[in-house]
Amino acid sequence: MEYSYLVPCLLGANCPPAPRDPEWTKVFSLLTMESETVVPWARMFTRGSRKNIPRGKLMDLTFTAIVPLLLGSVGLFALFRLLQRMRMRAYLQDAVVVITGATSGLGKECAKAFHAAGSRLVLCGRNGERLQDLVQELSAKANHAKNIHKPFTVIFDLSDTKTVVSAAEEILKCVGHVDILINNAGISYRGTILDTGMDVDKKVMETNYFGPIAFTKALLPSMIKRQQGHIVVISSVQGKISIPFRSAYAASKHATQAFFDCLRAEMEQYEIDVTVVSPGYIQTNLSVNAVTADGSRYGGEDWPSVLIGNKITSLLTNYSQRLRLGNLPDLHVAVMDKNTIEGRTAAEVAQVVLNAVGQKKKEVLVAGLLPSLAVYLRTLSPRLFFTFMASRARKERKAKDS
Ligand SMILES: NC(=O)c1ccc[n+]([C@@H]2O[C@H](COP(=O)([O-])OP(=O)(O)OC[C@H]3O[C@@H](n4cnc5c(N)ncnc54)[C@H](OP(=O)(O)O)[C@@H]3O)[C@@H](O)[C@H]2O)c1
Repeated sequence: MEYSYLVPCLLGANCPPAPRDPEWTKVFSLLTMESETVVPWARMFTRGSRKNIPRGKLMDLTFTAIVPLLLGSVGLFALFRLLQRMRMRAYLQDAVVVITGATSGLGKECAKAFHAAGSRLVLCGRNGERLQDLVQELSAKANHAKNIHKPFTVIFDLSDTKTVVSAAEEILKCVGHVDILINNAGISYRGTILDTGMDVDKKVMETNYFGPIAFTKALLPSMIKRQQGHIVVISSVQGKISIPFRSAYAASKHATQAFFDCLRAEMEQYEIDVTVVSPGYIQTNLSVNAVTADGSRYGGEDWPSVLIGNKITSLLTNYSQRLRLGNLPDLHVAVMDKNTIEGRTAAEVAQVVLNAVGQKKKEVLVAGLLPSLAVYLRTLSPRLFFTFMASRARKERKAKDS
């Protein structure tokens, strides 16, 4: 067979008459039909000019090649997402998920998100009443969420290492094993390094760093035994960059990032996953609950609780939520950072955490453009980054003094 016959056809030249071989006649007629679609492609690639392609042929090309290609890609993407969702659902359904700091903010929203995904929850916190309120709220949603597991609660203070270890033992005794541990609890800090006593630095480190690592270490052996487990830690953008007047907080989050990066590498051989989530600002009471240089609460006293008591405040909040009136008006807005108010909602970030866990991501940065750029700037041009931070410190000091 003479293959040289094919070349002019493919390049759109006039096709020579077909040889009288019946096999060839079949191939040749197919080629002349197909050349309608092949020719414009061949021309585009051989001469690089679209001008020679008649308009009708270009439309044909669009409908015969580009549209199916686009539809195929969309279909493949949809199939990929469907498989990803199915895998995620299977991973989270009935998994034992331990969440620290479940009494408020991001921890509470994570509890709702993982409960909706069918997980068996172990909710940890310092305030038993608030934990029970959350259990009631989740149980009320149980039918809708098709989650038959009643959450289990454990009360302990993360800054007390001994109680952290006994809490881990209690969890293993009661639920048998832990599939996913979410180290979420934490406190923030506001103050100058010069005015801050070492006791405040230690308090922040104990809650944000020593507590979570003690809890993780206490639960790890049971995960290693099962060659299965997933450790998640809620760090912060400030685990990657330090901003002025947040020294203790940024230091605790840098330490957290470093520890869990090491853990990820060391746990690979046991097939235990580690996910570090680094959010930017979230609309929670973190800044209100932050400790100051003298150890007092940045947001001052929670005056409704002081006036009418914790129990009545929490009952009112619960009642207001049930009537779908939302939370009680936030009485700390006056001291809540402007950045925090403009941040993402806790529910939004909880969904990011859920997806990151479901997809076994190693690291997630949940921040806007500026903080994300700052993270890269710290590595690519440290000098420029330090200049920006010094200017920020000057501005903040000036604003405080005026
Ligand atoms: N909000 C933000 O802008 C932001 C940004 C980046 C990262 N994060 C991180 O997100 C995590 C959750 O914070 P959030 O924003 O949801 O703030 P939040 O509403 O103040 O919640 C903090 C949680 O941690 C618990 N907690 C604090 N100290 C504890 C201790 N010693 N022992 C046990 N539990 C303790 C609190 O329990 P109580 O109710 O008993 O106080 C509360 O449940 C933190 O790790 C924080 O660093 C927050």
